[in-house]
Amino acid sequence: MTTFSVCLTGTKYGCGGGGCGACTVMISTYEPASKKIRHYSANACLLPICSLYGAAVTTVEGVGSTKTRIHPVQERLAKCHGSQCGFCTPGMVMSIYTLLRNHPEPTSEQMIAALAGNLCRCTGYRPILDACKTFCKESICCQRKANGKCCLDQEDDLFDNKEKVSTSLFSTDEFQPLDPTQELIFPPELMRMAENQPKRTLVFHGERVTWISPVSLDELLDLKIAHPKAPLVVGNTGVGPDVKFRGVFHPVLIAPARIPDLNVLKYTNDGLTLGAACSLSLVKDILTNAIAEFPEEKTRVFCAVLQQLRTLGGEQIRNVSFGGNIISRKSTSDLNPVLAASNCMLNLASRGQKRQIPMSDIFADGVGNNTITPEEVLVSIHIPYSRKGEYVAAFRQAPRRENALPITNAGMRVLFEEGTDIIKDLSIFYGGAVLTTVCAKQTCQTLTGRHWNEQMLDEACRLVLKEIALPGSTDGENVDYKKTLMVSFFYRFFLEVSQSLKTMDPCHFPGIPMEYGSVLKDFKTRMPQSIQIYQDVGPSQSPQDPVGRPVMHQSGIKHATGEAVYIDDLPPVDGELFLAAVTSSRAHAKIVSIDTSEALKGAGVFDVITVHDVPAANEFYFSDDPEIIFARNEVICVGQIVCAVVADSDVHAKQAAAKVKIEYEMLEPVILTIEFSGSFLPSISLSYNCVFLIRSGEICIGGQKHFYMETQSMLAVPKGEDEEMDLYVSTQHPAIIQEMVAASLGVPANRIMCHVKRVGGAFGGKILRTGLLASVAAVAANKTSRAVRLILSREDDMVITGGRHPFIAKYKVGFMNDGRITAVDAKYYVNGGCTPDESVLVAEVSLLKIDNAYKIPNLRCWAYVCKTNLPSNTAFRGFGFPQSGLVTETWITDVADKTGLSPEKIREINMYKKNEQTHFKQKLDPQNLIRCWNECMEKSAYCSRRTAINEFNKQNYWKKRGIAIVPMKFPFGDLLTGKADHQGFAAALVHIYTDGSVLLTHGGIEMGQGIHTKMIQVASRELNIPMSSIHFCETSTTTVPNACASIGSAGTDVNGMAVKDACQTLLKRLQPIIKKNPTGTWNDWIAQAVSKVCAYLLCYNENCGQFSSCGLCSSIRGYNEYMDWEKGEGHPFTYFIFGAACSEVEINCLTGDHKNLRTDIIMDIGCSINPAVDIGQIEGAFVQGIGLYTMEELKYSSEGVLYTRGPDQYKIPAVCDIPEQFSVSLLSSSQNPYAIYASKGIGEAGFFLGCSVFFALRDAVTSVRNERGLKKTFALNSPLTAEQIRANCADAFTEMVREGEEGSVPVNIKVGL
Ligand SMILES: Cc1cc2nc3c(=O)[nH]c(=O)nc-3n(C[C@H](O)[C@H](O)[C@H](O)COP(=O)(O)OP(=O)(O)OC[C@H]3O[C@@H](n4cnc5c(N)ncnc54)[C@H](O)[C@@H]3O)c2cc1C
Ligand code: FES
Ligand code: FES
Repeated sequence: MTTFSVCLTGTKYGCGGGGCGACTVMISTYEPASKKIRHYSANACLLPICSLYGAAVTTVEGVGSTKTRIHPVQERLAKCHGSQCGFCTPGMVMSIYTLLRNHPEPTSEQMIAALAGNLCRCTGYRPILDACKTFCKESICCQRKANGKCCLDQEDDLFDNKEKVSTSLFSTDEFQPLDPTQELIFPPELMRMAENQPKRTLVFHGERVTWISPVSLDELLDLKIAHPKAPLVVGNTGVGPDVKFRGVFHPVLIAPARIPDLNVLKYTNDGLTLGAACSLSLVKDILTNAIAEFPEEKTRVFCAVLQQLRTLGGEQIRNVSFGGNIISRKSTSDLNPVLAASNCMLNLASRGQKRQIPMSDIFADGVGNNTITPEEVLVSIHIPYSRKGEYVAAFRQAPRRENALPITNAGMRVLFEEGTDIIKDLSIFYGGAVLTTVCAKQTCQTLTGRHWNEQMLDEACRLVLKEIALPGSTDGENVDYKKTLMVSFFYRFFLEVSQSLKTMDPCHFPGIPMEYGSVLKDFKTRMPQSIQIYQDVGPSQSPQDPVGRPVMHQSGIKHATGEAVYIDDLPPVDGELFLAAVTSSRAHAKIVSIDTSEALKGAGVFDVITVHDVPAANEFYFSDDPEIIFARNEVICVGQIVCAVVADSDVHAKQAAAKVKIEYEMLEPVILTIEFSGSFLPSISLSYNCVFLIRSGEICIGGQKHFYMETQSMLAVPKGEDEEMDLYVSTQHPAIIQEMVAASLGVPANRIMCHVKRVGGAFGGKILRTGLLASVAAVAANKTSRAVRLILSREDDMVITGGRHPFIAKYKVGFMNDGRITAVDAKYYVNGGCTPDESVLVAEVSLLKIDNAYKIPNLRCWAYVCKTNLPSNTAFRGFGFPQSGLVTETWITDVADKTGLSPEKIREINMYKKNEQTHFKQKLDPQNLIRCWNECMEKSAYCSRRTAINEFNKQNYWKKRGIAIVPMKFPFGDLLTGKADHQGFAAALVHIYTDGSVLLTHGGIEMGQGIHTKMIQVASRELNIPMSSIHFCETSTTTVPNACASIGSAGTDVNGMAVKDACQTLLKRLQPIIKKNPTGTWNDWIAQAVSKVCAYLLCYNENCGQFSSCGLCSSIRGYNEYMDWEKGEGHPFTYFIFGAACSEVEINCLTGDHKNLRTDIIMDIGCSINPAVDIGQIEGAFVQGIGLYTMEELKYSSEGVLYTRGPDQYKIPAVCDIPEQFSVSLLSSSQNPYAIYASKGIGEAGFFLGCSVFFALRDAVTSVRNERGLKKTFALNSPLTAEQIRANCADAFTEMVREGEEGSVPVNIKVGL
């Protein structure tokens, strides 16, 4: 399915470990006995090709294509604006398509479940879900009632009636209907094969591995004798990652999926027996049916298992085996604790022997126990019916609610003496605690015979904490949190059972207090309801003029059909080599030796490239300290590139890279945290008179990985003459790639042609880091005279590249009793990593944006960029503002706490109000800031909801709600694009061809933000021709030289001006012809123009300029940005984007889990050129912001090794994390004189508003603390994870854990901050 075997490029490779869903395909199998075809989604990256014998695989190409017919799923995803960079889109299409093949009219619950295993880093999921909703049975109205209105009838009063607003970004009238009869049929030859061919053992021999697929149990048992060490492989989601990422090798693999005994489904007198090879999805369906069919009393075990299955992995992962999950005995199995607690039995077989053992036995002595012999296989699992007086429950808490391995989980069961609350039998099992599932056996024995009451509860918790000894943290996880969860889960079980006892006998059992009841309900992911409101174009605008309309992304359909080409999809070049980087495993060390002898002997290996192969510059000095291509003598972080292997395939290159031996001598110091670091530069400061001091505080803000779905990718192709080289790179800045590669090869820049078609997400991470990686590939291509492709694996990408800068901020804030802030004194410490990159600029921007939306009369701020032995941190959407703004809003909240006023009052009091100056003396008109704030207050119905939340919190003890509204002033400036390392300008080149078609190119990069779509809209308006006559091919240094980077929200502003300029020049030249024939068409005019110049001379004659024009934009409307750091004064920004967001959340105080209930965003983006694209940017950035502030946590070892290396460990927001109600409104009647068509650059601003969720969570925690009489002042750091929320909602359970820990050393040192 990959590019190189059958050239089907649609299926994408985002992680390789089953965690992102980019590689989703549909598998169809035919079962001759039932004559049924089964369709299911699977992650191609883990799917062994041999397991597909007899199955049909449908990739996105099979669903539809622009060459044949586009499928409704593809069409709607594109037209609903559900793709931005498009890298996740084929996977999304396949998940939706598979669901529709099985359920042509799915419920919204089924739809949302189908997408749980697919990640998107760009869109924020809302538009994807909009497309999904069009296939669902239910109404697509928002069902919002807070304003007493539904989204479908809000239009009238949302805005001033004079302004025409629209709430529709697409028209369902355009959609083709879904016609299930048009779908691909199951290949008849496979059906015949399944019916006619007797089932026989299949054996496939590969280069190193043999795959054996037996068809009978006896055969399987024989194979187990012959190959006792061979794993049984069904879904390969357990074995596959070990082989791919942990270097495990199995010469023989046995695939038992076709054996009937392992696929049984049998109801017996006492329960249900299910084959070990049944998929988890099938088990889910069977249990769902059984629950509907049998009396409640009998199905409590089924319900508890089903509870875990709902959130276990994503749909693709649930399509793997039941037995594999159990038998791996991993501590992260969500099923094992509940199955073991429920007395499930395992049916095992080996040659000549069958036996049944209690499931709990396999955990008796830890993971390595011999309860199951190597010759034994698990045939089936018996799940018993529950009995009268028996209660079962399962719990889990994970870093993300869905598609995330648990931090801790549990299965619990109690059986009472008949008619009493006396414990007859109790089982408690935990997962996530130690290496495998563990049983609190002694606790259960001690409690047998006891009444189910508070005393029992207290003792149970203390006993559990004593019995389950957790080792110190090895992977950055907090042991205290796990312990707290263990007792909190038991408490939750206690409540559940107490409530059930009351239902059974209300006279004898009091049940639980009313206000405790809500905690018994888990958070569920529902289909979000959303609304987007924008100002429509005026009635006088020509219907052909696309500016201001929600035009679909120019590549949207190609994203959805998989035809859009990314670097890894480029066809192989003859003789092409693959490159694998060898990186440092030490944070700071001298390189004593590099032994490449074993690597060079590897199959298919061509060469090893080191620093000695760099013809010219290995170090780049953008400031005093260098950026380095290959380490020379010394390494300064884990993940630094030491050398690289080039081989004939990706696999061979990686195998050989693992064989390179590097000897190190450790160097001191190894600095990983800000506290112990030095500084790159003397501090930067702005000084003002500080007059007052009342409150001081500190906040730590963790880093963030870009996690673009397309990892760093490049292809270097030497052209064989004049030292020319073509570079195809996934970058935001082709000019800097050209410059760095030319410098490293020692050739003039005019020999290096850098081409960028599109980028699968960048977010700031594909500039300097990409330049270094492209230089590695180019040096290898130069040395070998072959084309060299470098596609970083997700793991390498996470380890090698840096991310957003972690900050520690210390501040003092002075204020009056009435909430007026009079002075702020803040110091920022920024973890820059091992080289400068953009760190100093990030620090500068963070100081310039420190005021957010507030007028602070006396302000003193400092920023220190700290040099550490971590990978160099770099640009990331928002560029220092997300961190700086969070600090600001934190001291605002502190003032609220101290004065007893509400945070929104403090915000209002201190907000910029009239024309005034910022702290660096730039003029500011805050009118639209205030409008955004007021509209947000009104549209979110803040005041009434605040009252409702207070009421909810009074009535609920273990669940609390919180709400926060945050304003934003986001200064936009050319400061970044004009900086030394991004020197350049924007330019466009427009060609008109003799047939009237137009080829447009400009310096901007398409990375999902829709810049090409907007540029075509601009050209269409200027030339007055339809968008369909204009084509964009690629961004290249050959057409637009020295262009500035696509960064800082500036792409449309600067390139749009250049496109406009170029088009206007062309139109001016055509004027004489147009004047002569004013009623003619565009093609008439071009034909007349052509007749005036001799076509074959076009390229040589001076008239060639007639049909091509270059547009330039050297700065924005002549605005001269500057900043005098000595004086602390300047005009660093061109204009300001304003906004406000209100978010509401609900937290579970027992686990720290939370749910985003509702967000309302108002954003002033001037006159939007494309409201669909702009709203998409706001929502996508906002959801990324939720990631930074509440979820995405980087964990390092104390040696500086990153633990969080892929989607398994590093959780970016998924479908389950977006607000249940999500509305975005663009402020109407806003003009911006400084940018094209009065628009504003919007790529970054929405990010910061994600912090409204952070402060809503803080609000909820505050209400917990107030109710419990806990200390009023408390500090929260970012990300505000479940662990932190739980720790701040202190109660008897956290106290118990703390008591047990008396005197112990804290385990979770925040390495990396
Ligand atoms: C991205 C991702 C997310 C996940 N999320 C979760 C989660 O949230 N919760 C959770 O609980 N799990 C999760 N998992 C784990 C997943 O559920 C298991 O990997 C899966 O159930 C194993 O089944 P398999 O068919 O893929 O096993 P395989 O990889 O095919 O086999 C796994 C092991 O089981 C053994 N085995 C399999 N069948 C038998 C048998 N019949 N007899 C004896 N031995 C056998 C094999 O020898 C092998 O050692 C996740 C996995 C991934 C990759
Ligand atoms: S690439 Fe397969 S799930 Fe990520
Ligand atoms: S559009 Fe989903 S990752 Fe870019």
